Amino acid sequence: MKTVYILNGPNLNLLGRRQPEIYGHETLDDIRTACAALGETLGLTVELFQSNHEGGIVDMIHTARENAAGIIINPGAYTHTSVAILDALNTFDGPVVEVHISNVHKRESFRHHSYVSLRADGVIAGLGTEGYQAALRRLGTLLA
Ligand code: DQA
Repeated sequence: MKTVYILNGPNLNLLGRRQPEIYGHETLDDIRTACAALGETLGLTVELFQSNHEGGIVDMIHTARENAAGIIINPGAYTHTSVAILDALNTFDGPVVEVHISNVHKRESFRHHSYVSLRADGVIAGLGTEGYQAALRRLGTLLA
């Protein structure tokens, strides 16, 4: 079984409780459970991580270089600021799908630019937490 890392950035530990009118009521644990079940049908093992720290996310990407075939990443606010996360993703050889729960293009203009999109093979925004499953299906295709 190939392994997919689902990496989540700052404040996403509060998913379900944080601005539910924007991000919904599901938690990261709900996403982990749903993606693990879907992963089984796709022949993929799913490991989900979250960090509130930019360097923590960079470290997870470095670990993915050895341990993961693909990455799904929601970098949270670091999407819009982090060259370090972009550089780390550029050291990873497998497919990368960027996910945003909200439709960032419908929101403030500072959310319209993503450094991570310069590397991502696909970008999903505005599908709510279902976006993670859509990303996983795409990795299932790319890694088949
Ligand atoms: C987000 C959108 C970002 O702009 C925001 O900073 C987040 C979450 C999303 O999933 O919609 O923390 O990445």
